[in-house]
Amino acid sequence: MERVTILHLEDQGFMRSLVRAICENLNFHYVGVASHEKAGEVLAEGNIQYILSDISIADDENAGIAFVDKLREDPRFHGVPVVMLTKFGEEQAFRSAIEVGADDYLLKPVPANRLRQGLERWSRVVEAQVAWTALDRRQAKLLRLTLGTLGHAFDVAARGGDPPLELVRDNCFDLLQAAADDQLMGVLGTLRQEFARTFAHSLRMAAYLAFYAHSMNCGRDRMREMATAGLLHDIGVSRMDPEFIDKAVWTAKETKWFEATHISHNLEIVPKLAKHQPPETSTILFAVCCHHHERLDGSGPLALQGEGLSTEARMAAIIDLFLNLRIPRGVVGFAPGKAAVCDRIAQTPGLDGALVADFIASIGPE
Ligand SMILES: [Fe+2]
Ligand SMILES: [Fe+2]
Repeated sequence: MERVTILHLEDQGFMRSLVRAICENLNFHYVGVASHEKAGEVLAEGNIQYILSDISIADDENAGIAFVDKLREDPRFHGVPVVMLTKFGEEQAFRSAIEVGADDYLLKPVPANRLRQGLERWSRVVEAQVAWTALDRRQAKLLRLTLGTLGHAFDVAARGGDPPLELVRDNCFDLLQAAADDQLMGVLGTLRQEFARTFAHSLRMAAYLAFYAHSMNCGRDRMREMATAGLLHDIGVSRMDPEFIDKAVWTAKETKWFEATHISHNLEIVPKLAKHQPPETSTILFAVCCHHHERLDGSGPLALQGEGLSTEARMAAIIDLFLNLRIPRGVVGFAPGKAAVCDRIAQTPGLDGALVADFIASIGPE
Protein backbone atom coordinates (compact mmCIF):
# COMPACT_ATOMS: atom_id res chain seq x y z
CA MET A 1 0.00 0.00 0.00
CA GLU A 2 1.17 3.53 -0.75
CA ARG A 3 2.45 5.48 2.22
CA VAL A 4 0.05 7.98 3.76
CA THR A 5 1.38 11.54 3.58
CA ILE A 6 0.80 13.77 6.59
CA LEU A 7 0.98 17.54 6.51
CA HIS A 8 1.86 19.04 9.88
CA LEU A 9 1.32 22.75 10.49
CA GLU A 10 3.28 23.83 13.56
CA ASP A 11 5.48 26.85 14.18
CA GLN A 12 7.67 25.25 16.83
CA GLY A 13 10.60 23.35 15.40
CA PHE A 14 11.00 20.90 18.26
CA MET A 15 7.36 19.83 17.99
CA ARG A 16 7.83 19.21 14.26
CA SER A 17 10.91 17.07 14.96
CA LEU A 18 9.04 15.09 17.59
CA VAL A 19 6.05 14.45 15.34
CA ARG A 20 8.29 13.69 12.38
CA ALA A 21 10.08 10.97 14.34
CA ILE A 22 6.81 9.35 15.38
CA CYS A 23 5.31 9.56 11.89
CA GLU A 24 8.34 8.05 10.23
CA ASN A 25 8.39 5.33 12.80
CA LEU A 26 4.82 4.50 11.81
CA ASN A 27 5.83 4.54 8.14
CA PHE A 28 3.95 7.73 7.27
CA HIS A 29 5.49 10.23 4.89
CA TYR A 30 5.89 13.45 6.90
CA VAL A 31 5.79 17.04 5.63
CA GLY A 32 6.20 19.73 8.30
CA VAL A 33 5.49 23.43 7.67
CA ALA A 34 5.58 26.50 9.94
CA SER A 35 2.99 28.77 8.29
CA HIS A 36 -0.41 28.41 6.67
CA GLU A 37 0.90 30.03 3.48
CA LYS A 38 3.42 27.21 3.17
CA ALA A 39 0.71 24.68 4.05
CA GLY A 40 -1.41 26.04 1.20
CA GLU A 41 1.46 25.57 -1.25
CA VAL A 42 2.02 21.97 -0.17
CA LEU A 43 -1.69 21.21 -0.41
CA ALA A 44 -1.88 22.68 -3.90
CA GLU A 45 0.72 20.14 -5.03
CA GLY A 46 -1.75 17.39 -4.03
CA ASN A 47 -1.23 14.02 -2.40
CA ILE A 48 -1.87 14.98 1.24
CA GLN A 49 -4.07 12.41 2.97
CA TYR A 50 -3.98 13.64 6.52
CA ILE A 51 -3.48 16.98 8.29
CA LEU A 52 -2.27 17.72 11.77
CA SER A 53 -2.42 21.36 12.85
CA ASP A 54 -1.71 23.43 15.90
CA ILE A 55 -4.50 25.83 16.90
CA SER A 56 -2.24 28.80 17.55
CA ILE A 57 0.49 29.56 15.03
CA ALA A 58 3.14 32.16 15.86
CA ASP A 59 1.27 34.88 17.78
CA ASP A 60 -2.09 34.24 16.22
CA GLU A 61 -4.26 32.24 18.62
CA ASN A 62 -6.77 31.24 15.99
CA ALA A 63 -4.60 30.76 12.93
CA GLY A 64 -5.18 27.01 12.92
CA ILE A 65 -8.95 27.49 12.99
CA ALA A 66 -8.86 29.98 10.11
CA PHE A 67 -6.70 27.51 8.19
CA VAL A 68 -9.20 24.64 8.61
CA ASP A 69 -12.14 26.89 7.78
CA LYS A 70 -10.53 27.85 4.49
CA LEU A 71 -9.50 24.27 3.78
CA ARG A 72 -13.05 22.97 4.15
CA GLU A 73 -14.36 25.54 1.68
CA ASP A 74 -12.41 23.73 -1.01
CA PRO A 75 -14.24 20.58 -2.19
CA ARG A 76 -10.92 18.86 -2.92
CA PHE A 77 -10.19 18.75 0.81
CA HIS A 78 -13.62 17.88 2.25
CA GLY A 79 -12.64 14.35 3.12
CA VAL A 80 -9.09 14.86 4.41
CA PRO A 81 -9.00 14.15 8.17
CA VAL A 82 -7.80 17.15 10.17
CA VAL A 83 -6.59 16.66 13.71
CA MET A 84 -5.99 19.75 15.84
CA LEU A 85 -3.62 20.09 18.74
CA THR A 86 -5.14 22.04 21.60
CA LYS A 87 -3.99 22.99 25.05
CA PHE A 88 -5.72 21.57 28.09
CA GLY A 89 -8.58 23.89 29.04
CA GLU A 90 -8.94 25.46 25.57
CA GLU A 91 -12.56 24.33 25.30
CA GLN A 92 -13.71 27.28 23.27
CA ALA A 93 -10.95 26.96 20.73
CA PHE A 94 -11.61 23.26 20.51
CA ARG A 95 -15.28 23.84 19.79
CA SER A 96 -14.54 26.43 17.13
CA ALA A 97 -12.11 24.04 15.47
CA ILE A 98 -14.72 21.29 15.30
CA GLU A 99 -17.34 23.73 14.05
CA VAL A 100 -15.23 24.82 11.11
CA GLY A 101 -14.56 21.19 10.22
CA ALA A 102 -11.69 19.66 12.19
CA ASP A 103 -12.22 15.96 12.85
CA ASP A 104 -10.46 15.38 16.09
CA TYR A 105 -8.15 16.96 18.61
CA LEU A 106 -5.23 15.87 20.69
CA LEU A 107 -4.51 17.60 23.96
CA LYS A 108 -1.05 19.09 24.41
CA PRO A 109 1.42 18.16 25.66
CA VAL A 110 0.78 15.03 23.63
CA PRO A 111 2.56 11.99 25.01
CA ALA A 112 4.19 10.02 22.17
CA ASN A 113 1.96 6.99 22.66
CA ARG A 114 -1.19 9.13 22.52
CA LEU A 115 -0.01 10.79 19.33
CA ARG A 116 0.77 7.39 17.88
CA GLN A 117 -2.74 6.15 18.79
CA GLY A 118 -4.35 9.23 17.23
CA LEU A 119 -2.34 8.88 14.04
CA GLU A 120 -3.09 5.19 13.77
CA ARG A 121 -6.78 5.70 14.37
CA TRP A 122 -7.12 8.30 11.65
CA SER A 123 -4.86 6.51 9.22
CA ARG A 124 -7.24 3.55 9.42
CA VAL A 125 -9.93 5.99 8.38
CA VAL A 126 -7.81 7.18 5.47
CA GLU A 127 -7.13 3.60 4.44
CA ALA A 128 -10.77 2.63 4.74
CA GLN A 129 -11.58 5.67 2.59
CA VAL A 130 -14.57 6.47 4.70
CA ALA A 131 -16.85 8.35 2.39
CA TRP A 132 -17.34 11.75 3.95
CA THR A 133 -18.52 12.74 0.51
CA ALA A 134 -21.59 10.54 1.06
CA LEU A 135 -22.65 12.91 3.83
CA ASP A 136 -23.97 16.38 3.17
CA ARG A 137 -22.38 19.33 4.94
CA ARG A 138 -24.95 19.40 7.72
CA GLN A 139 -24.46 15.71 8.44
CA ALA A 140 -20.69 16.01 8.31
CA LYS A 141 -20.76 18.90 10.74
CA LEU A 142 -23.04 17.09 13.18
CA LEU A 143 -20.86 14.04 13.00
CA ARG A 144 -17.71 16.05 13.68
CA LEU A 145 -19.38 17.75 16.63
CA THR A 146 -20.52 14.40 17.93
CA LEU A 147 -17.15 12.75 17.65
CA GLY A 148 -15.28 15.76 18.90
CA THR A 149 -17.40 16.53 21.94
CA LEU A 150 -17.72 12.98 23.17
CA GLY A 151 -14.09 12.27 22.41
CA HIS A 152 -13.07 15.33 24.37
CA ALA A 153 -15.24 14.42 27.38
CA PHE A 154 -13.82 10.90 27.44
CA ASP A 155 -10.25 12.08 27.01
CA VAL A 156 -10.49 14.59 29.85
CA ALA A 157 -12.12 11.99 32.13
CA ALA A 158 -9.47 9.42 31.25
CA ARG A 159 -6.80 11.90 32.43
CA GLY A 160 -8.55 12.35 35.75
CA GLY A 161 -10.15 15.71 34.88
CA ASP A 162 -13.79 16.78 34.96
CA PRO A 163 -15.46 16.27 31.59
CA PRO A 164 -16.88 19.55 30.19
CA LEU A 165 -20.54 19.28 31.10
CA GLU A 166 -21.50 22.65 29.58
CA LEU A 167 -19.89 21.79 26.27
CA VAL A 168 -21.72 18.48 26.10
CA ARG A 169 -24.98 20.19 27.00
CA ASP A 170 -24.49 22.95 24.43
CA ASN A 171 -24.19 20.38 21.69
CA CYS A 172 -26.98 18.19 22.89
CA PHE A 173 -29.70 19.00 20.40
CA ASP A 174 -27.27 18.78 17.51
CA LEU A 175 -26.07 15.48 18.87
CA LEU A 176 -29.60 14.20 19.18
CA GLN A 177 -30.25 14.84 15.53
CA ALA A 178 -27.10 12.92 14.72
CA ALA A 179 -28.15 10.09 17.02
CA ALA A 180 -31.46 9.74 15.27
CA ASP A 181 -29.83 9.36 11.88
CA ASP A 182 -28.78 5.80 11.08
CA GLN A 183 -26.36 6.73 8.33
CA LEU A 184 -24.46 8.97 10.72
CA MET A 185 -24.44 6.25 13.37
CA GLY A 186 -22.83 3.88 10.89
CA VAL A 187 -20.08 6.34 9.99
CA LEU A 188 -19.61 7.18 13.66
CA GLY A 189 -18.97 3.53 14.50
CA THR A 190 -16.35 3.29 11.75
CA LEU A 191 -14.60 6.49 12.62
CA ARG A 192 -14.25 6.39 16.35
CA GLN A 193 -12.36 3.11 16.54
CA GLU A 194 -11.48 3.59 20.13
CA PHE A 195 -14.55 2.97 22.29
CA ALA A 196 -16.68 2.80 19.12
CA ARG A 197 -19.32 0.76 20.86
CA THR A 198 -19.53 3.06 23.87
CA PHE A 199 -19.84 6.18 21.72
CA ALA A 200 -22.66 4.90 19.56
CA HIS A 201 -24.39 3.46 22.62
CA SER A 202 -24.13 6.75 24.54
CA LEU A 203 -25.71 8.65 21.67
CA ARG A 204 -28.58 6.24 21.46
CA MET A 205 -29.06 6.42 25.22
CA ALA A 206 -29.24 10.22 24.99
CA ALA A 207 -31.77 10.07 22.18
CA TYR A 208 -34.04 7.54 23.90
CA LEU A 209 -33.96 9.36 27.25
CA ALA A 210 -34.88 12.62 25.54
CA PHE A 211 -37.62 10.99 23.49
CA TYR A 212 -38.99 9.42 26.64
CA ALA A 213 -39.00 12.82 28.42
CA HIS A 214 -40.78 14.25 25.38
CA SER A 215 -43.43 11.52 25.44
CA MET A 216 -44.06 12.37 29.11
CA ASN A 217 -44.68 16.00 28.05
CA CYS A 218 -41.57 17.29 29.80
CA GLY A 219 -40.25 20.62 28.53
CA ARG A 220 -37.13 21.20 26.43
CA ASP A 221 -34.94 21.88 29.45
CA ARG A 222 -35.70 18.52 30.96
CA MET A 223 -35.20 16.79 27.61
CA ARG A 224 -31.81 18.44 27.38
CA GLU A 225 -30.84 17.34 30.90
CA MET A 226 -31.90 13.77 30.16
CA ALA A 227 -29.94 13.75 26.91
CA THR A 228 -26.83 15.19 28.56
CA ALA A 229 -27.00 12.55 31.28
CA GLY A 230 -27.48 9.86 28.62
CA LEU A 231 -24.38 10.98 26.74
CA LEU A 232 -22.29 10.81 29.88
CA HIS A 233 -23.88 7.75 31.48
CA ASP A 234 -20.95 5.44 30.68
CA ILE A 235 -18.20 8.09 31.07
CA GLY A 236 -16.40 5.83 33.57
CA VAL A 237 -15.59 3.51 30.64
CA SER A 238 -12.95 6.10 29.66
CA ARG A 239 -10.84 4.86 32.57
CA MET A 240 -11.03 1.21 31.51
CA ASP A 241 -8.88 -0.77 29.11
CA PRO A 242 -10.13 -0.13 25.51
CA GLU A 243 -9.13 -3.62 24.47
CA PHE A 244 -11.44 -5.14 27.05
CA ILE A 245 -14.26 -2.75 26.15
CA ASP A 246 -14.08 -3.58 22.45
CA LYS A 247 -13.88 -7.35 22.89
CA ALA A 248 -16.54 -9.01 20.74
CA VAL A 249 -17.98 -11.15 23.51
CA TRP A 250 -18.05 -10.95 27.30
CA THR A 251 -18.80 -13.81 29.67
CA ALA A 252 -21.53 -13.26 32.30
CA LYS A 253 -18.77 -12.75 34.86
CA GLU A 254 -17.03 -10.15 32.70
CA THR A 255 -20.33 -8.33 32.19
CA LYS A 256 -20.86 -8.10 35.96
CA TRP A 257 -17.28 -6.91 36.43
CA PHE A 258 -17.73 -4.28 33.71
CA GLU A 259 -20.91 -3.01 35.35
CA ALA A 260 -19.37 -2.72 38.79
CA THR A 261 -16.13 -1.16 37.49
CA HIS A 262 -17.45 1.60 35.25
CA ILE A 263 -20.05 2.50 37.90
CA SER A 264 -17.29 2.83 40.49
CA HIS A 265 -15.48 5.23 38.11
CA ASN A 266 -18.75 7.11 37.52
CA LEU A 267 -19.08 7.54 41.28
CA GLU A 268 -15.79 9.41 41.25
CA ILE A 269 -16.42 11.51 38.14
CA VAL A 270 -20.10 12.44 38.31
CA PRO A 271 -20.54 13.93 41.82
CA LYS A 272 -17.88 16.55 40.94
CA LEU A 273 -19.80 17.49 37.79
CA ALA A 274 -23.14 17.52 39.57
CA LYS A 275 -21.93 19.65 42.50
CA HIS A 276 -22.36 23.09 40.94
CA GLN A 277 -25.54 22.31 39.06
CA PRO A 278 -29.12 23.18 40.06
CA PRO A 279 -30.64 20.38 42.18
CA GLU A 280 -32.82 19.00 39.39
CA THR A 281 -29.88 18.71 36.99
CA SER A 282 -27.61 17.04 39.48
CA THR A 283 -30.33 14.57 40.51
CA ILE A 284 -30.91 13.50 36.91
CA LEU A 285 -27.20 13.32 36.12
CA PHE A 286 -26.43 11.26 39.20
CA ALA A 287 -29.38 8.88 38.81
CA VAL A 288 -28.79 8.19 35.11
CA CYS A 289 -25.00 7.86 35.37
CA CYS A 290 -24.63 6.01 38.65
CA HIS A 291 -27.83 3.96 38.93
CA HIS A 292 -28.54 2.68 35.41
CA HIS A 293 -27.46 -0.86 36.31
CA GLU A 294 -29.48 -1.01 39.53
CA ARG A 295 -32.52 -3.27 39.85
CA LEU A 296 -35.53 -2.88 42.15
CA ASP A 297 -34.72 -6.27 43.72
CA GLY A 298 -31.29 -5.05 44.86
CA SER A 299 -29.31 -7.17 42.37
CA GLY A 300 -27.39 -4.22 40.81
CA PRO A 301 -23.76 -3.27 41.57
CA LEU A 302 -24.71 -0.82 44.37
CA ALA A 303 -27.51 -3.07 45.69
CA LEU A 304 -29.97 -0.17 45.89
CA GLN A 305 -33.59 -1.25 46.11
CA GLY A 306 -37.15 -0.08 45.48
CA GLU A 307 -37.66 3.44 46.85
CA GLY A 308 -33.92 4.09 46.67
CA LEU A 309 -34.24 4.33 42.87
CA SER A 310 -35.65 7.47 41.26
CA THR A 311 -37.85 7.44 38.14
CA GLU A 312 -34.85 8.58 36.05
CA ALA A 313 -32.72 5.72 37.35
CA ARG A 314 -35.46 3.21 36.62
CA MET A 315 -35.98 4.60 33.15
CA ALA A 316 -32.25 4.62 32.40
CA ALA A 317 -32.06 0.95 33.45
CA ILE A 318 -34.86 0.04 31.04
CA ILE A 319 -33.38 1.95 28.09
CA ASP A 320 -29.83 0.70 28.70
CA LEU A 321 -31.06 -2.90 28.72
CA PHE A 322 -33.23 -2.27 25.64
CA LEU A 323 -30.22 -0.94 23.71
CA ASN A 324 -27.92 -3.74 24.82
CA LEU A 325 -30.47 -6.36 23.72
CA ARG A 326 -31.16 -4.60 20.43
CA ILE A 327 -27.47 -4.39 19.51
CA PRO A 328 -25.93 -7.44 21.14
CA ARG A 329 -22.18 -7.67 21.67
CA GLY A 330 -20.43 -9.83 19.08
CA VAL A 331 -23.40 -10.05 16.72
CA VAL A 332 -22.75 -8.17 13.51
CA GLY A 333 -25.45 -7.11 11.08
CA PHE A 334 -28.33 -8.51 13.09
CA ALA A 335 -30.73 -6.59 15.30
CA PRO A 336 -33.50 -8.52 17.03
CA GLY A 337 -36.91 -6.97 16.34
CA LYS A 338 -38.29 -4.34 18.69
CA ALA A 339 -41.22 -6.55 19.66
CA ALA A 340 -38.97 -9.44 20.71
CA VAL A 341 -36.75 -7.12 22.74
CA CYS A 342 -39.75 -5.49 24.41
CA ASP A 343 -41.01 -8.98 25.40
CA ARG A 344 -37.66 -9.77 26.98
CA ILE A 345 -37.65 -6.49 28.91
CA ALA A 346 -41.21 -7.04 30.13
CA GLN A 347 -40.07 -10.39 31.56
CA THR A 348 -36.86 -9.10 33.16
CA PRO A 349 -37.12 -9.05 36.96
CA GLY A 350 -36.10 -5.94 38.85
CA LEU A 351 -37.40 -3.36 36.35
CA ASP A 352 -40.33 -1.04 37.04
CA GLY A 353 -43.31 -2.67 35.25
CA ALA A 354 -45.33 0.51 34.84
CA LEU A 355 -42.36 2.37 33.34
CA VAL A 356 -41.59 -0.56 31.04
CA ALA A 357 -45.15 -0.28 29.72
CA ASP A 358 -44.74 3.51 29.26
CA PHE A 359 -41.43 3.02 27.47
CA ILE A 360 -42.79 0.38 25.09
CA ALA A 361 -45.75 2.62 24.31
CA SER A 362 -43.44 5.62 23.74
CA ILE A 363 -41.18 3.94 21.16
CA GLY A 364 -44.02 2.61 19.01
CA PRO A 365 -43.79 -0.29 16.54
CA GLU A 366 -40.72 -1.20 14.40
FE1 LIG B 1 -23.39 1.34 31.92
FE1 LIG C 1 -24.84 1.89 29.01
